[in-house]
Amino acid sequence: MTVKTMETQQVVELLEKVAGLNQTGGNDRVKTIIHRLMHDIFQIVEDLDVTPEEFWSAVYYINDLGKNGEAALLAPGLGMDHYLDIRMDAADEQAGLAGGTPRTIEGPLYVAGAPLSEGFARMDDGTQDGETMIIIGQVTDQHGQPVADAIVDIWHADLKGAYSYFDPSQSEYNLRRRIKTDAEGRYAAQSIIPSGYGCPPEGSTQALLNLLGRHGNRPAHIHYFVSKAGYKHLTTQINLAGDEYTYDDFAFATREELVVDAVRVEDAAAAEQYGLNKPFTQVEFNIQLVSTDKADLQSRHERQRALES
Ligand code: DHB
Ligand code: FE
Repeated sequence: MTVKTMETQQVVELLEKVAGLNQTGGNDRVKTIIHRLMHDIFQIVEDLDVTPEEFWSAVYYINDLGKNGEAALLAPGLGMDHYLDIRMDAADEQAGLAGGTPRTIEGPLYVAGAPLSEGFARMDDGTQDGETMIIIGQVTDQHGQPVADAIVDIWHADLKGAYSYFDPSQSEYNLRRRIKTDAEGRYAAQSIIPSGYGCPPEGSTQALLNLLGRHGNRPAHIHYFVSKAGYKHLTTQINLAGDEYTYDDFAFATREELVVDAVRVEDAAAAEQYGLNKPFTQVEFNIQLVSTDKADLQSRHERQRALES
């Protein structure tokens, strides 16, 4: 079928009515976006000759996606989160606010309100016998000066690649902590080396990825929010080097500057420094913040998050 109807008066008027452009009430921004969105969907149907069967399978796909609670998982898989990062990077560049540790996606698995401690935190509850990980780092400003009292909010997966709260078998706030940097801007944590994450194999996201010939895996990674008044809020992650998926992340979060070596430390004296009596793996991640007086850039942007009021 090669029928063309998009330019007809009938379709033009239909789209205007669909978006409420002939009504005085409602929200103008929503009208503008829905008008454009529905126009572009109609256009896809015309250009690609989408059949009714294809159209209805897409509609019921969205139903299932919602039922499974996977919309915020599909978005990064389709590059949306990374695309928003690309835009924010470009906006920073334009505003003269580029530099510092690069941002990367938040992902859908943050939980607000993790326990807060000063300088150091033990993150794991001791129930999983993983490789002990010591994370150390310093937060500095653009000039290399230490940033004391910054809040480093860290979260990561367990040995199964699962996150506490979303995995109810884990204890409350397991592998989630907020650490306030000390006078030298330093923070440290003891935890376990996380496994990579895989999309639920029977879920909606994986079903679409299968049709695209793609996998749904992420490398072993550790999420960070870093904030302090007077500095741009930083949302980022580190990806551990050497993972099969370090440079093949289904959510497109890897950035070269964020790939960090996990270094095995066999030295007993070094272990003792952390109260450990066995070898461990050390991960160092130093963070550079960029100062700004713009209040809206100093906190994370709003989105729905678990336990966030
Ligand atoms: C996604 C991000 C994560 O950090 C994660 O652990 C799982 C999924 C995501 O972007 O979909
Ligand atoms: Fe994650």
